[in-house]
Amino acid sequence: MNIPMVDLKAEYELLRSELEPALLSALAATQYIGGPNVRAFEQEVAAYCGVGHAIACASGTDALLLALRACGVQPGDEVITTPFTFVATASTIAMCGARPVFVDIDPKTYNLDPEKVEAAIGPRTRAIVPVHLYGQPAHLEPVAGLARRHGLRLVEDAAQSFGAEYGGRKSGAYGDLGCFSFYPSKNLGAFGDGGMVVTDDGALAEQLRVLANHGSRQRYHHSVLGYNSRLDELQAAILRVKLRRIDAFNAARRRAAHAYNARFEGHGLVTPHEDGRGLHVFHQYTLQSDRRDAIQAALTAAGIASAIYYPIPLHRQELYGDAYQGVALPVAERVAQKVISLPISPTLTEAAIDRVAEAVLGA
Ligand SMILES: Cc1ncc(COP(=O)(O)O)c(C=O)c1O
Repeated sequence: MNIPMVDLKAEYELLRSELEPALLSALAATQYIGGPNVRAFEQEVAAYCGVGHAIACASGTDALLLALRACGVQPGDEVITTPFTFVATASTIAMCGARPVFVDIDPKTYNLDPEKVEAAIGPRTRAIVPVHLYGQPAHLEPVAGLARRHGLRLVEDAAQSFGAEYGGRKSGAYGDLGCFSFYPSKNLGAFGDGGMVVTDDGALAEQLRVLANHGSRQRYHHSVLGYNSRLDELQAAILRVKLRRIDAFNAARRRAAHAYNARFEGHGLVTPHEDGRGLHVFHQYTLQSDRRDAIQAALTAAGIASAIYYPIPLHRQELYGDAYQGVALPVAERVAQKVISLPISPTLTEAAIDRVAEAVLGA
């Protein structure tokens, strides 16, 4: 039997008896846009994250775009972020007409290196966007200090870290704004697209709601250029069921990650580094090895999925042409050649972990 990266089928079977009535009841209620599940889910996420406001939107990409726009990011601005992330972290900066300024990563956590951020701050810098890659929060405290001193906004890309913790807060709740994705394979995943921005700042929350609703406070009055970015009522009904299990599911991911660690110890592989500053929720379980390609080939031959997150750092993406030609980010460039992510899900069994480990170690 093949082992997928994320076992959505097993998760569905586990939750089926709760998901199907919730979905059918939302269907029958026929309030498909702006319905009660969306409002309730916003309140439940705000309470879970310990923040005053949660604004649902259509995707994690939209969450980032809305957050940056709410911060006033505009043409001519610069926004500091990591090159070792999914493209949306930086493409949304460019969608605001601003320039992403990439800062290299910490070689152990793969997150933005806080020591390198200050040198990248200039007169045009408007915001900093750390990403909590693979489910481990970036080290935010020094970055938040810099943001305060320089009058910058701190926007957390928490797409991969729903339920993680840092500095006694839930991921997404430490900065000015936190952005989540509910893409199906995320730790809190919908059955389609979805996203959310959380914040404690009432003025930012109001701005986010306006931006997500065609730039409109009052129907057919449009004060700014906005978007149509809504979470679907059916997705909200599903996500409310899944939110009730998120802590148990994240705990199961952590157990699977530690089971992998035990099997890989002493074999010359770099296993994930937990920095001890908070709670890592293992959206991905990622190894580093000089033999990455051989390991991937062995996994494929054994019917086991694997993935490279991410093979090309963003400053080397074709979309930017030669805009970053002279920019060297050696850590991101090196690890992009060596990382490989293995299957991980809340339902991953010990037997599956054994099979994956056997294929990796036999490569
Ligand atoms: C780090 C990161 N940022 C942003 C996104 C974009 O989220 P979405 O796919 O929901 O637009 C994703 C996931 O796809 C992500 O992993």
